Amino acid sequence: MKPYIVAIFNQKGGISKTTTSTNLAVCLAAHGKSVVVIDLDSQGDSTKSLGVDPNIKRGIFDLFIGGAEIDDVLIPTMFDGVRIIPSTYSLAGIEIKLSELKDSQRTLTNIVGHSSLDCDYVVIDCPPALGILPINALAAAHAVVIPVTATPYANDGLMRTLPSIKYVQEGLNKSLLLQGVLFTIHDRHKSARKISDLIRSRLGGTVYTAEIPRDTMVIEAAGARLPVCIYAPKSGASQAHLDFTVEFLERHHKIAAKAGCQLAPFPSRSQAQETLVRWQEIHASKAVPPEHDRLRQRTSQLDRMLYGDRTRSERLHLWLIHFFIDHRAVLVAFLLTVALAALVVVGVGVGGMRMLADALGAS
Ligand SMILES: Nc1ncnc2c1ncn2[C@@H]1O[C@H](COP(=O)(O)OP(=O)(O)OP(=O)(O)O)[C@@H](O)[C@H]1O
Ligand SMILES: [Mg+2]
Repeated sequence: MKPYIVAIFNQKGGISKTTTSTNLAVCLAAHGKSVVVIDLDSQGDSTKSLGVDPNIKRGIFDLFIGGAEIDDVLIPTMFDGVRIIPSTYSLAGIEIKLSELKDSQRTLTNIVGHSSLDCDYVVIDCPPALGILPINALAAAHAVVIPVTATPYANDGLMRTLPSIKYVQEGLNKSLLLQGVLFTIHDRHKSARKISDLIRSRLGGTVYTAEIPRDTMVIEAAGARLPVCIYAPKSGASQAHLDFTVEFLERHHKIAAKAGCQLAPFPSRSQAQETLVRWQEIHASKAVPPEHDRLRQRTSQLDRMLYGDRTRSERLHLWLIHFFIDHRAVLVAFLLTVALAALVVVGVGVGGMRMLADALGAS
């Protein structure tokens, strides 16, 4: 049977698309499903989060430009049942490459349609903004899940995202279904509740009951390059991701039943939870290098990018600029000292001139 393809999409950035994609993938796998994640973001966050290095040679970019077959780029992750078509940094140049192709909005549809992707679910992690990549994802998907964070800008994000989905539904993919809206990075304070209530009242049952709370464990897990459901399966965010996965599966079963297809029942939530705990014992212990090592690596990478091909004086200049941006009080003190020194120099100069003039006048 063909896999059920779901795009995780919102034009807004930083609202947990990647976190939702990777945790949905491992939670589906914990329910015994085989999953392929497609990382469509050149940032490669879901690739990294599933333990794969985006510096690898081939990935989704090569698939898009016809330089590889699915089997060449589909790689296993360390989690049973989860494979990934990774993002590589070259994906950043895909817009230009695709603009040269005919039918570029359907490239992914054609790739998936012509291959026999042997899995139950495909989860596509979309980049923020509406470009050729999300369009490709929406054109190829059966369903879309929109993560939303209840901030004052949530409505703006939705108001830009929903018309894009409609645009694809009207043209490229008439059967694309909005499977649901998921509240992510959710705060319990009053203003967030007001916003989420407003969105719930507008979108009704489209919004999942599960809400993913703001939880520092998610950030710790990202630092360890693991989905939070593996890093801390008993944390609040993991529990909520598991609840969401159950709802996601139930909705998919209902959709399939409506289309006259009866899907096999899936294991209970508690069985899936046990699997996640077992995976935590296996993987969390051998998580990536300690955080400070990775931070140091990243800082030196950044330094190379910022200062790499510059002369020593240019580097010093840049370093001073960054130092003063970070230490404004030092900058103010520095400027005051320079101003004071200038006044003293001018004062001494004027005094000296006067003394000289007096001396010349007296003689
Ligand atoms: N439930 C949560 N609690 C706390 N932090 C979270 C939660 N979910 C995600 N985050 C953090 O928020 C940041 C953005 O998350 P993520 O990368 O998943 O968003 P995104 O929508 O994929 O971003 P982008 O648009 O850049 O691709 C990350 O630092 C992530 O660790
Ligand atoms: Mg992302």
